[in-house]
Formats: sequence, C-alpha cells, structure tokens
Amino acid sequence: LFVNASEASGRKIPETLFGIFFEEINHAGAGGLWAELVSNRGFEAGGPNTPSNIDPWSIIGNESSLVVSTDRSSCFDRNKVALRMDVLCDRDGANVCPDGGVGVYNPGFWGMNVEQGKKYKVVLYIRSLQSVNISISLTGSNGLQMLATANIIAADVSNWTKTEILLEAKETNHNARLQLTTSRRGVVWFDQVSAMPLDTYKGHGFREDLSTMLADLKPGFIRFPGGCFVEGEWLRNAFRWKETIGPWEERPGHFGDVWMYWTDEGLGYFEFLQLAEDLGAAPVWVFNNGISHNDQVDTSSIAPFLQASHEGKEILDSLEFAKGAPDSAWGSVRTAMGHPEPFDLRYVAVGNEDCGKKNYRGNYLRFYDAIRHAYPDIKFISNCDGSTQQLDHPAHFYDYHVRYELSHFAACTFEISIVLQIYSDANTVFSLAHKFDHASRSGPKAFVSEYAVTGKDAGTGSLLAALAEAGFLIGLERNSDVVEMASYAPLFVNANDRRWNPDAIVFNSYQLYGTPSFWMQRFFSESSGGTLLNSTLQANSSSSLIASAIAWKNSKDNKNYLRIKIVNFGSNIVNLKISIDGMKQNTFQSLGSTKTILTSSNLMDENSFKEPNKVTPIKSLLENASVNMEDVLSPHSFTSFDLLIE
Ligand code: AHR
Repeated sequence: LFVNASEASGRKIPETLFGIFFEEINHAGAGGLWAELVSNRGFEAGGPNTPSNIDPWSIIGNESSLVVSTDRSSCFDRNKVALRMDVLCDRDGANVCPDGGVGVYNPGFWGMNVEQGKKYKVVLYIRSLQSVNISISLTGSNGLQMLATANIIAADVSNWTKTEILLEAKETNHNARLQLTTSRRGVVWFDQVSAMPLDTYKGHGFREDLSTMLADLKPGFIRFPGGCFVEGEWLRNAFRWKETIGPWEERPGHFGDVWMYWTDEGLGYFEFLQLAEDLGAAPVWVFNNGISHNDQVDTSSIAPFLQASHEGKEILDSLEFAKGAPDSAWGSVRTAMGHPEPFDLRYVAVGNEDCGKKNYRGNYLRFYDAIRHAYPDIKFISNCDGSTQQLDHPAHFYDYHVRYELSHFAACTFEISIVLQIYSDANTVFSLAHKFDHASRSGPKAFVSEYAVTGKDAGTGSLLAALAEAGFLIGLERNSDVVEMASYAPLFVNANDRRWNPDAIVFNSYQLYGTPSFWMQRFFSESSGGTLLNSTLQANSSSSLIASAIAWKNSKDNKNYLRIKIVNFGSNIVNLKISIDGMKQNTFQSLGSTKTILTSSNLMDENSFKEPNKVTPIKSLLENASVNMEDVLSPHSFTSFDLLIE
C-alpha cells in the first residue's frame, strides 16, 4: 500500500459522512430508546372507538369482583378513550376483595426494567364519583414480588385529576409490571398512565444505556423518523408530526401499519430534534410528501401538506416549529415545550423511497418551491437516485439506498421473508465500495441513507456482514467528495419484536449489545472529519482488499494520527507492505501507535446478550510504526493502523 501523506494530497472528509438513521421499527422508540415503561398508556391502541382493546393491560380480579371496560370519557379531546373499572368487591361485607385488591396491570414492553435504588415517576389521571384509595405498585411479573408501592388516597376526584408519585425500587426485576389496584367498591376511571425512570439521557426521556451507544457512534447526522414508518401502508397511518408534539397526555398516538404496532408517540417530532441536539448530530427530517405505499395525494391537491396560507399546512409549520422565532406561531409551541432556542434543522428529505411513484416529482417540486422560498438555508434530499443519471429536479442530495437499487422494489412493502431473499449479500455490498468511483463530480451529492448486508450472509449480525460494510465504507470515504452522508439501517431492534434483520443495536428491557456492524461503524466514525490521503493498493488479487489512509486528530487525547484501514475480504493471509511518502523516517511514535483488528474464528460469528463482545475491535500496541512497515493480515479481517505523529 502506497500512501502519499503530503498535505497537498489531502482532502477533508465531510463531518457528516457517518450518521445514524433512526426509524420507529422493531420497537426502536416505543419500548426502546424512549424510556416510557407503560405500553398503551392512554388505552387508545385498540382504536378510538369503544369497546376498545386495552392490550397489553390485563385484569387483576375475576368477574365477581371487577368489570373492566373502556368508554370515551377522557378529558383529552384528541384521545377520548379511558379505562373504566367497576369494582364490585369491598374491604368488608358480603363480597370481600382478594388480598392485594383488584385492578389492572401493565407489563410494559415485554417486561419493565426496574432496578433497586432507582426512582420511577408515575403519572396518571383518575376520576371517580367516590373517594378513592388506590395502590400504585411496581411488582414482579406475577404480581407477588413487591418492588415499590404507594397509595393514592383522595376524597374528591369527581373531575379528572392528575396524580404524580415517585416510587423507589427496593429490589431489581427486569420483567416487572405496573399495577393499579384497589379494595374499595365503586367506579374508577383511569387515563394516560405513565411510568418513567427518573434518570434518562440528559434528562430528556431517552433510555440512558441505548443513548450512550448512540453517542458512542458520534453521529454526524440523524435521519428520522423513517423509513417506511413515515409513509405508512396508507396515508391515514403515516407519521403526522403535529399529533406528536405538545403535552404527552394530549398526543393521540398512532398505529404504524408498516411495522404493525402502536406508538403512544412519547418520542415525537420535538424529541427527535432534542435527541439530535443532545447527540450533536444534524437533524435530517424525513417528511411525508403525500405518498404512502398504497395511496397518494395528487399534486393538484397537495396544498394542505405544505402551503403557508393553508389551514392544514403541514411541512412549513414543522419548519417553523423547529426553526422559527420563540414567539412565532409554531415556535411558541416549541418554547412552551421548554426549548425557546430554535433547533439547528438544515436538512429535509422529501418522502422515503417514493421516487418511482406517479406523483413524486410533482409533489417534490411543490415542496421544494414552498420551502426554499420560506427557508432558503434548507437542503433538500430527493428520493431519486442520481448516481447513474442526472436528476430531473433540483436537489442538494440524492438518496441512494443500497437495497433499493438491488431489489428494484420498495423493499419494505414486502413480507419480511421475501425481503430477506432480495437483499444484498456480502459480496455485493463489498463490491459497491466502487459504486461512486465514476459518479458525476458535479451536481447533487449522495446520501446513502440505508445500507446493510442482509439475508443469510448477515444472520442477525455477522462478522461477514461487518467486513463487507467496512469495505463499502472505505469506498465511501474514498469518494467523500461526492458522498456526504451515510447511515446503516435499521439502527435498533428490541429482541422481543424483530421486524427486520439485522440491526446495529440489539436490546431488551435491560440488556443490549452492538452487532459487529455497530462496532465497525463506531470505529469509522471515531475519526470523523479527518483528511483523506491519496493511497494506492498494489495487490495480486486486489478484488478482496480495499484500503484508505486518513490523517485525523483524536479528540480524546488531542493528538494527530495517520490511520490506515484495510479490509481483507478474502480467505487468504495477506503479507502487507506499507510505504508512506511525504513524511520523515521517524515521524511516528511507537509509544502510542496502535493496531486494531476486527475478526473472529468463524465468519458467521455474532455477538449476543450472552457474549456481547465476541466480535469487537481489539486494539494492541504497534511497535514497528514507521514509514515503511510490514504486517500480516488475517483472512477475513479488518485492520487499522493508527500511527501517532510526533
Ligand atoms: O430499514 C428498513 C426499511 O428499509 C426502511 O423502512 C425502508 O426505507 C427500507 O426499505
């Protein structure tokens, strides 16, 4: 490998190159990053009509002691369903309540993680025509282990009354539930029941352990909230940002009909912007452009989706909400939510995977004109792939989905089993490292918004997948004059509800691990914003090797490094010689120079809850750091040499 390390050979890599794509898929948000423990907190998941399905709430008691139903008596106009409990038993008399009382419990998302010594804030709305005495408890999964409990005793809750209590857990249980019970005869209504750990990431409601993993990725941007989630199978089930802001109690929630689950929308548009700010990532707002998988708004009727003068103006309002003055119409809603300063929103993606659809171009142009006029600083990402031919509409970026191009389908419209067959295998993704070598150097730049090895090469996150992706990322780095952003997909999976394989971060109520692909991304983003140097690989069988060289300053130790990354995608050992031009013989310090390797004994090795670090990068000291070096690359490995510059 010949590296030209002279300053003149360098080209800065965009700070935004390595980002993340957060989609509400696999319970990434509801039952994932959003720390809310209660699932279906407003009892709306069964729909706005009654009788409704209160799942996963369940009943404690039998028909002689309790009747549970739903009605539309809530004090919240946008989510009218409330839970009604007709308690038939009492503390004494002919029908005595069972020990512990009767009521309902919520198991959260496959069990709540309750940890000893930690505090949990429970908020709920209660109404009853009698005085009430209600126990609120966190218990084990069968209700027997009492983790924390408190009583609400109130003489007058004849109007809906908000109640807040803080519970401190005296024991740990990763599969806990929240119970609301009573031993008093009468009728009680509940609505909007929430339980949140007191400690969340930066105090903003995000699960701390999962957020820390995101922060470790040092994302240059965060694309949200989808994906297909933005589109919906039908427009009526698409993501509507206005329904996701303001007080959480007033958010109606919605059923995501692509990934087939309900979200209470605690994690809404505001929280996405907050997350971006907390992670130091540029927000990329993917909005619905009037197109879902199965229906579309005709361009002639698209005005309510965008126009400033129109009642239903959706998108311009979303930008005013994010960027407007604190006292502007929508900026003041943001201010009321505790964030008077505008968010730094500079990128919008018009739709997701909609390029081939009848109204895409027409709708795109309407959004483009309206937004550009009101917010000239906004950069547009088109769904159409401009890597092989010029776009026929103006855009700053074109979206390049690896899987989209290969399948020629909007992949998410298919059943998962079919999707797996048509997704990109490891060899294809590795070879796509050269995808942009001959792309046009003028015009819009590429945003690789979703990439991943899928199918049998990937399993649920294999070394093989990570190596192929590393090769692809090296290719992007080398082409970062035309590729400005890239994000792996999907980011998260709750192991209890895998809708898509593989994913970068796997979790359940209390455990988590990164797949080899996660670790690879983490490694690449560590040196974000570095300078790409000219390098040339001379090899006998070059197709299984790819390398890049960059100069970067490590913010952890504030020192300068030359980083050389190489993927050996083949099954042979490779004897490597590195020659670095443009630097003096003793430029590198042995003490402080390191070598990092990601490999494993089996190509299909994965991490797991049991072995979270089976396939992770291993760092060791590099004693022979020099402008002329030799090393041996293991088969199927990723190696990085970090040469500390004196
Ligand atoms: O990442 C999962 C899905 O893949 C996304 O929702 C969609 O954009 C793509 O087809």
